[in-house]
This record gives sequence, structure tokens and C-alpha cells, in this order.
Amino acid sequence: MALDALKKECLECRRCGLCETRTNVVFGVGNPNAEVMFIGEGPGEQEDLKGEPFVGRAGKLLDDMLELIDLDRSRIYIANMVKCRPPKNRDPLNIEQEACSVWLRRQIEIIRPKIIVCLGRIAAATYIRPDFKITKEHGQWTVKDGIMTMALFHPAALLRDPRRRPETFEDLKTLQQAIRDYCTATYDA
Ligand code: URA
Repeated sequence: MALDALKKECLECRRCGLCETRTNVVFGVGNPNAEVMFIGEGPGEQEDLKGEPFVGRAGKLLDDMLELIDLDRSRIYIANMVKCRPPKNRDPLNIEQEACSVWLRRQIEIIRPKIIVCLGRIAAATYIRPDFKITKEHGQWTVKDGIMTMALFHPAALLRDPRRRPETFEDLKTLQQAIRDYCTATYDA
């Protein structure tokens, strides 16, 4: 309910210039009671067209990554740092991220996940720490606002550089163990 109301408000958002070029606002999808929330960077072309996060090639790889640890989209929530596609998939500007951060903050307040997983460097730098080094710190836990948080390589980065996949597999196993340790019945296989 609260999430639906927030979505309705977000779909009207004109807080930054990205509203001028978007086709759809990509609010987020998944289980409003999810204990695990994934945060990506921002919508790409396919996401902008469909209004859903991670529906392109990177999204297919994300689904495969989830399946490896017995997760799927119905059990988690997926959102992005910015809800509208930056033109030509450029990195979102700081002012755009700042303007958009209210929506993510409220999504987190409503969903109250036990675990947050940032996907990629930009999400980790914005959400965890500005000097976060994804190559060194992926798979490591920090507690942020009382929520266990980690970052994985972005699936698009794994498509570009498959040599990162074994490390990501290890990180996913770490995530699976944390889910077993800290999450409740929703995740019983
Ligand atoms: N990359 C992201 O970070 N988010 C999406 O929704 C799609 C691709």
C-alpha cells in the first residue's frame, strides 16, 4: 500500500532534468516484504522502454546469478539509484542522484530489508561510501543505517569481463550464507 502510493508519486517526478528524456520512470519491482533488496545504477534503454529494472542482457545475467543461490525476483526487491534513464546510458550526475535519492530512501524505509546488495561501482559509491573500491571491496559486509550491506560487480561489468565471474560466485555464496543466518522463513528453500 505505502509502496504503491510512493510509486504513484514517483511516476510524476520532475525533480531533475532526466524527466525530460525518459520514456518511463523505472520505480522498482519485487516483493514489498522482501528481506533482500538489490540496488542498481539506473535504467538502460530496455528498462526505460518497459518501465522495469534489469530487463536487458544484464538483467538476464542477474536472474542467473539469483538462481545460483535459490533466489528469484518474487523473493527480492530490485530498485535503482536513479529512476530515469540517463541519455545514452551515461553515468548519472551527482545532482541527478541527489535529486532521486529521496525515492530510494523512502523505498528502503517502507520495505525495511535486512540485507542490501549494491550492484556495481556507482551504486556502491553512492549508497555505501564515496571512495568504495568495487575491485577490492566487493563481497565484503558493512552495516549501513543498521542494514547489512554489500556490493557485487554489476552484471553488465560481468558481461564485459567474464574473468570476474568466479569472484562473483564466491560473493554470491557469502550472500546466501547471510540470508540463511539473518533472514526468516520467506527464504526457506
Ligand atoms: N543496469 C542498472 O544498473 N539498472 C538497470 O535497471 C538496468 C541496467
